[in-house]
Parts: sequence; C-alpha cells; structure tokens
Amino acid sequence: MSDKKARIGIIGAGTVARDNQIPAFLKCDEAEVIAVFDRHIERAQALCQRYGIPKAYSVLEELLNDEDIDCVSICTGNVSHESLVIAAAKAGKNILCEKPMAISVQEAENMKKAVEESGVTFMMAFVNRFRQESIIISELLEQQRFGQIYHARCGWVRRRGTPSGWFTDKSKSGGGAVLDIGVHVIDLTWYLMGRPRPVSVSGVTHRQIGAYETRSVKGWAAAGAKNGVFDNEEAATALIRFENGASMSVDISWAINGKEEKMFSKIYGTRGGASFRPIEIYGEENGFLTDTVPVLVPEDSWQPAFERETAHFAHCVLTGEKPMPSLDDGLTVQRMLNAIYDSAALGREVQL
Ligand SMILES: NC(=O)c1ccc[n+]([C@@H]2O[C@H](COP(=O)([O-])OP(=O)(O)OC[C@H]3O[C@@H](n4cnc5c(N)ncnc54)[C@H](O)[C@@H]3O)[C@@H](O)[C@H]2O)c1
Repeated sequence: MSDKKARIGIIGAGTVARDNQIPAFLKCDEAEVIAVFDRHIERAQALCQRYGIPKAYSVLEELLNDEDIDCVSICTGNVSHESLVIAAAKAGKNILCEKPMAISVQEAENMKKAVEESGVTFMMAFVNRFRQESIIISELLEQQRFGQIYHARCGWVRRRGTPSGWFTDKSKSGGGAVLDIGVHVIDLTWYLMGRPRPVSVSGVTHRQIGAYETRSVKGWAAAGAKNGVFDNEEAATALIRFENGASMSVDISWAINGKEEKMFSKIYGTRGGASFRPIEIYGEENGFLTDTVPVLVPEDSWQPAFERETAHFAHCVLTGEKPMPSLDDGLTVQRMLNAIYDSAALGREVQL
C-alpha cells in the first residue's frame, strides 16, 4: 500500500456517496479517494469534479483492474451489493459495503464465501455504531455495567417519511422499511446487547398508507413513490428471541398515523440500562435510582459517525486489524431482517 493510505474507489455516485461516504473519506488521513464509478458516467464525473477526484469510470472492470485502487466503497442500491462485492473480492479489493448487506440470506452467504476465499478486508457500513452515544454505551457494556441484558426495544417511527425513487420498488430495493431503516436499529440494538445469537423471529409487515401527498413534511414527500412502483412494506413490527433468553422488540415505519419517534434503541439489564438518543444511562447508587446523562461533544449531524466509520475501515485495511462491524455481523443481521419477511409471509414465528 503506497504512502500508507487506503486508496479508495467509490462504487455508486448517488446520495450516500455524495453526502456521506466521499466527504468522510476526504477527511481521513489514512485514505485517498482515487475514482468514482457509476453506470451513469455523468454522475461519476459530477462527483469527481465536485470533490477533485482524479478518475471517473462507467465500466466496472476498469475500476477493478485499476491498480491504483486497493479498496472499494459500495454505495449502490441494495440489489447490486451481492454481485459488486463478489466481483470486488475476486479482484482483490478490500470492501466497505453500505447497509443492508444484501437482500437475502443466500446472497449474504455468497458474499461471505467470496470474501473469505479472497482474503480481502470486508466491513459493513453500519454507521450508527460510530455515533458517540453508541460508543459510550458499548464501552459501559464491555465493563459489564448493565449486568445481564435481557430485553431491548428499538424502532424508528416516521409519520410521513417514505423515501422516494427505488426504495419503494421491491425489484430495485429487495424490501422496504425493514431493509431501509429497520437494518439501522436492529443492528445497533443487537450490538448494544452484546450480539447474542438470534434463534427465532416473529414479524408482521404492513402497507396501508402507500403513496401520499402532504403539505406537512419537507424533504420526505414520497413523490417518486407516488409516480413509481410501490410494492414494498412501509411498516413492520417484530419480536426477536436470542439463545441467551434475551428478547428485542422492533417497530419501524416510513409512514404511520401516530406520533413520530426518531430512531430509538433501549437496552435493559439486570443492573442497569441505557437509552441511545437522547443518551441516558439508568443505574442505582446508595439505594437511589440514577439517571445519568453523559455530556457529548456537540455534533449536529450523522457525518462525524461516517468519518469515524471510514477512518476505522481505512485503518483496518492498513494494519490488518479485524473491522467492526464484521462480515459475520452483516450476515447475522441479514438473517434477522429476512426472518421478519419470512415470518410475516407465513403468519408465524420462524426459527433461525
Ligand atoms: N448508511 C446510511 O445511513 C445510508 C444512507 C443512505 C443510503 N444508504 C445505502 O446506500 C445505498 C445507496 O443509497 P443511495 O440513497 O445513495 O442511492 P442512490 O439511488 O441515490 O444512488 C445509487 C447510485 O448507484 C448507481 N448504481 C446502482 N446500481 C449500480 C450498478 N449495478 N452499477 C453501477 N452503478 C450503480 C446509481 O446509478 C446511483 O447513482 C443503499 O444500499 C442504501 O441503503 C445508507
């Protein structure tokens, strides 16, 4: 690796690449963005121009054969993650893969096999693990401050927050709210529980609101969804059971006629508990119950978490350290996500 920098090729020149991944990599001392690839060359060129990145590609093989690149960040829609990860692994490129890992367990297993055979570094881009709140709670978890975690509740309930474009079209996304926002809260909460082995899932999915017009929300009016295909679920609820007896309840919606609940994750242990956002730690001292609010460094967006995520990836590539979230984490989360769909379709709990 030249100059001790991970040399990155961005795959997919859309929103997450433009607003999050590229700006984060550009701030990282241990990374350098060499190229952007998109099947629409003008999108790749626009990002190269905007950020001063030298090479734009619209042919995958050209990016994968480029010896100046040793890593790729997969920022395309969900349905392409499997084929792109397998191609990148075969080309010997280290991989950061946007969430969700894939659209099915079979795909995630195929990706794991290709990555393991090639020996490249693979990291799942579960960005919420890199928020200050998650870092604090996971440190306390490691110090056994919560005792045995036996239950957790998580969710993300938007009143009107359906993303437009391919997100609502199952053929282009592989799934709706579960794969889009459920993945964030399920991964984070599972991580904060200490990653117990999931054994069964009971899930229900809904699509009752569908496409809508509203004057009440800026930025999330589902215009593309209204004009395009909408055959995905917009809401889901699930109960996940773990081998150690713990449970997790999940509530997700893009649109619901109820009060908005921003992304939340709460863990309950025998000695203490924690709430992710706003962060609060629950304990007991001298016979009193305590609510502790850690003082955070002010951060006004998710971007610092993307910066920590990309810096961790680059550092692992350079040092050979094992990245977190790992390949196996991606696969386990995929099992929980797809089990929600399987259970909803069957109308009963499914075993993992
Ligand atoms: N971590 C986060 O918080 C976060 C936020 C947004 C999106 N995402 C994830 O990032 C991914 C991309 O989402 P987005 O909102 O940026 O999508 P987007 O539609 O804005 O951008 C995707 C880009 O990839 C290109 N593309 C798609 N398939 C391709 C292929 N096979 N080959 C070449 N180019 C291809 C498209 O032309 C498009 O420019 C999704 O998997 C999404 O779930 C993660």
